[in-house]
Order: sequence, then C-alpha cells, then structure tokens
Amino acid sequence: MKILVTGGLGFIGSHTVVELQNEGFEVVIIDDLSNSSENVLDGIEAITGKRPIFEKMDLREKSKVQDFFKKHHDLEGVIHFAASKAVGESVEKPLLYYENNLGVLVYLLQELSKMDKANFIFSSSCTVYGQADSLPITEDAPVKPAESPYGNTKQIGEEIIRDTCHVNSQLSAIALRYFNPIGAHPSVEIGELPIGVPQNLVPFITQTAVGLREQLSVFGDDYPTEDGTCIRDYIHVVDVAKAHVVALQRLLGQKNDSNFEVFNLGTGKGSSVLEVIHSFERVSGEKLNYKIVDRRPGDVIQAYADTTNANNVLGWKAASTLDDSMKSAWDWEQKVRN
Ligand SMILES: NC(=O)c1ccc[n+]([C@@H]2O[C@H](COP(=O)([O-])OP(=O)(O)OC[C@H]3O[C@@H](n4cnc5c(N)ncnc54)[C@H](O)[C@@H]3O)[C@@H](O)[C@H]2O)c1
Repeated sequence: MKILVTGGLGFIGSHTVVELQNEGFEVVIIDDLSNSSENVLDGIEAITGKRPIFEKMDLREKSKVQDFFKKHHDLEGVIHFAASKAVGESVEKPLLYYENNLGVLVYLLQELSKMDKANFIFSSSCTVYGQADSLPITEDAPVKPAESPYGNTKQIGEEIIRDTCHVNSQLSAIALRYFNPIGAHPSVEIGELPIGVPQNLVPFITQTAVGLREQLSVFGDDYPTEDGTCIRDYIHVVDVAKAHVVALQRLLGQKNDSNFEVFNLGTGKGSSVLEVIHSFERVSGEKLNYKIVDRRPGDVIQAYADTTNANNVLGWKAASTLDDSMKSAWDWEQKVRN
C-alpha cells in the first residue's frame, strides 16, 4: 500500500516513515528540505533496510502537487506533516505561515477530493487548547483563541478538513493533536535537527549540555505548580510515530466512527521544566547549566492530555518514559556533535 508522507524528512515525519516501512507500507516522501536534510534518507534506510521514494518539492507549487497526484493515482493514504512550525517566526511572517500551512493543505485536499476513496492524517497540536480550563485535557475541551499565527493555522487547518469531509463522504480524515514530541530513534540514526536556536526545551537542554548554548533559561518558578515551573506532556517521538500507523490502519480498515476524527497524542502525564532537567541529569550523568529567569509572556501554565480516546478508540498508548525520551535525545545530540 502506497502512502504519501509530506514533510517525511522532518523530525516526526522521518520517525513515522520508519514505522510505516516496518509495517510493510510503501512510502513516498515529499519534502522541500526547508527544515531537513536529504541525509535523513540514509538514516531511514539504515534502520529499515529500505530507502523510501523521495521527491524534492515545495508543496506551495500547486501545479506540481497536481502533477504528483496524477502520477501517483494509487495512493492509499496521505500523512501531512509538512508545515512551518516556529511560533516566534509566525508572528513576524504570518503570511508565510498561512500560505505554507493552509494553502498547501487546501491543495492536498483538492486532490484528495477527486479520488474515489481518500484517507488523510493531519498534524495538529495541543496549542489549539491554549490554557485549558480543566486538566487533563480532553478532545472536547474548547478551542481557545490562538496565541500566534502558527497556532491559528492548526485551528483553521482542522476547520478546513472538517468542512471538506462534511461534503466529501469518500474522504476520511484524522487530526492528531500532539502534545510535546521529544527524543530520537533508539538506533540514533534519526532525530531532531533544529536549525538555529532551538525553540523547544529538550533540544535546548541537550545543546546546552554539549556546549553549543551557554545556559538554559527557565522562564518562571513562581507558577501555581508543585515546583513553580510550567508543566507539559512530553511524549517520545517514536510513540507519536506509531500512533500515525494505528490511525492510518483505522482509516484503511474503515473502522472510523465518522469521516473526521480528532485524537490527543500524549502520555497523560505532565512533567515540569525542572523534572525534565532532572531527568536529563539522571540519564546523562551531566550537570546542566541553567538559571531561573522571569516568566515569559504567553506561556501556558499546565497542559497534559487525557489520552482515554487514543487508548480506547485508537488502541494506542505511549510506551516510553520521560527518562527513555531524554536518554535518546542525549544519545542523538552526542552523535550529531561528534
Ligand atoms: N515538533 C513539535 O513539537 C510539534 C508539535 C505539534 C505539532 N507539530 C506539527 O507536526 C508537523 C511536523 O513537525 P516536525 O517537528 O516534524 O517539523 P519539521 O520541521 O521537522 O518537519 C516538517 C518538514 O516539512 C518540510 N516542509 C515544510 N514546508 C514544506 C513545503 N512547503 N513543501 C515541502 N516540504 C515542506 C520541512 O523541510 C520539514 O522536513 C508540523 O505540521 C508541525 O506543525 C509539531
């Protein structure tokens, strides 16, 4: 079965390609390498023994997307990771984000709407919940006004898919709302490769420990949490990747309850910034250079998932612990720097 993975050379995409190939799917990757490298194909091949088909393409070029679907008329599913994802940059360049994250989504859905049967999986995010009123966060928690153009693209993206599914019964879609994917493949053949200063906590920790960054700033230790630092739901990227295979199989087996479904992908357990740092220190044996600084505007205090639906309906559960994730992130950082 042939599956298109857009953004398949990126962080979550590459791990998903590995899991798809391990399950026997034939994978075609489209990526423009704007936030990844062609070397990732070597890593995927080293793990799975198979090199996926790769087409270097900027999905914003609509005619190329149309030509691709004409050529690959036998696609059984599309997993759509390709997007711009830097929250800060999205504030500076909103139109780039709306074009890349929403324009491309429309082009793909237009092509899928022409097919007799189409299955689509979308990378959404827990950012849609903002600061949720109650914890853990269920899928029916209200979507809060987006804090950034990036967050807005995930909210509007879901709405675009919902509206399209509403008028196209041959199209089935699942939006997966990721909490905080971290870590790397245990083989250390693939992992996260942030360009420039990392926006996320875990690569900032590993880059600080390896000497690439001087010090980690912890933004606020006076929040109403046990140790005063913010809480997130950190989930191993391999667990996230496996959930995509399960979601795809649900669509392929026509086991979905409606033609647009939404699932949280998290561990269900919140960890504070200090807990993440301590986990890192435990598994690496390194002492991390960090300091507590003032709160940063816009930070949600606590967010962690209610995973009941993913567990019971999808039949998927995160398997790795925070220590597993931190260990793989550290192993990967050391390999990359060496
Ligand atoms: N990493 C996270 O913490 C996180 C959390 C929630 C949601 N998401 C979403 O998950 C998806 C994947 O995230 P990731 O962390 O793997 O990001 P990533 O940047 O590592 O991967 C995205 C890939 O898409 C490619 N790409 C971007 N624009 C493209 C275009 N126009 N044409 C072709 N390829 C293009 C990039 O080169 C990159 O390889 C994104 O949609 C992101 O918004 C990520």
